Amino acid sequence: MSDSYRLLQPADLRPRNTFGVAAHARRLIEVLDAAALPQALAALDGDTRPLVIGGGSNLLFAGDTVDALAIIDARRSVVSDDGERVVVRAAAGADWHGFVLWTLAQELGGMENLALIPGTVGAAPIQNIGAYGVEVGEHVVAVEAFDQDTRNFVRLDAEACRFGYRDSVFKQMPDRWIVTAVEFSLHRFAEPVLDYAGLRDVLAARGITAPRPLDVAEAVIDIRRSKLPDPALIGNAGSFFKNPIVSAAQAAALVAAHAGIPVFAVDEGLRKLSAAWLIDRCGWKGHRDGDAGVAPGHALVLVNHGNAQGTELLGLARRIAASVQMRFGVALEPEPKIVGAAW
Ligand code: EPU
Repeated sequence: MSDSYRLLQPADLRPRNTFGVAAHARRLIEVLDAAALPQALAALDGDTRPLVIGGGSNLLFAGDTVDALAIIDARRSVVSDDGERVVVRAAAGADWHGFVLWTLAQELGGMENLALIPGTVGAAPIQNIGAYGVEVGEHVVAVEAFDQDTRNFVRLDAEACRFGYRDSVFKQMPDRWIVTAVEFSLHRFAEPVLDYAGLRDVLAARGITAPRPLDVAEAVIDIRRSKLPDPALIGNAGSFFKNPIVSAAQAAALVAAHAGIPVFAVDEGLRKLSAAWLIDRCGWKGHRDGDAGVAPGHALVLVNHGNAQGTELLGLARRIAASVQMRFGVALEPEPKIVGAAW
């Protein structure tokens, strides 16, 4: 034990996952200063690498875990400021939405479309969080991490992070790095991104024609609140499935067979489908099996009505995916990390 980390054994993980499902870790180590990670990992002295937990908003526990680790460090600072472009750094344990509000209070643009996403700064680059036309990777300068293979602290620039739709090198090699901090590029005079359906309408309804970043964030917050259930009120992990990417030919066949199916261009040969629409059409919205259910307001969000087990939510997710596969011939992939079971 030291001033820079503390060990809890065993640890109750129920309050540490926004689904609110019961789970335990044999040991949980909380790291207050990322510089102490090597000592903290040595204190675990295990063969398996710990499960790194941020806000627990993208995890489904379908079994127990042996060792877990959480970075508590939440420091934020301005790295450089040339009057227009401002680089800020936040440690992995900082609350994401709190960080976004901090950037907005300084009238910095870039993060406003990503307001109200649950989770921590450290988790943001892992699945390259995205909403309302912006992905965080577009603003990442570098990710600082501890490399468990080489046992060194490293700094990966945006290119090395290999960001894609809900994807990054950290997701592709899941047990290698522990993210310790992220540097973001923000701007005092950024052009707002307003193209996502509904955003411009909400601003127009408020009579705002030249929105500041804070106006955009407020509109995003209202849209999110109207569509997505609040994990503080009902357990959930946001979108449970990624929007599937299919070939242009498959998308064309689906359009011919199913009137009204939404299709979005990705690049010349690829199209993105709306998982919510596919699930909705299979009749799952508002469905409930015991305490495991689908949100009544959004077909993409699985919810825990109280005491659902992780395995029950996983079972429901598999039945949903099987029905979409059967009806549309499209495979759905889960977005959250599933712990203790395979998809
Ligand atoms: N739709 C339905 N039924 C529903 C909900 C939506 O048919 O119950 C259809 C509608 O056609 C709608 C379309 O799906 O136009 C898209 O819905 P929405 O705008 O809610 O976006 P999404 O594709 O379902 C994605 C992200 C969200 C993000 C929003 C806004 C993924 C997996 N999800 O949802 O991210 O907030 O866009 O950008 O990409 C998350 O990742 O946890 C998350 C909430």
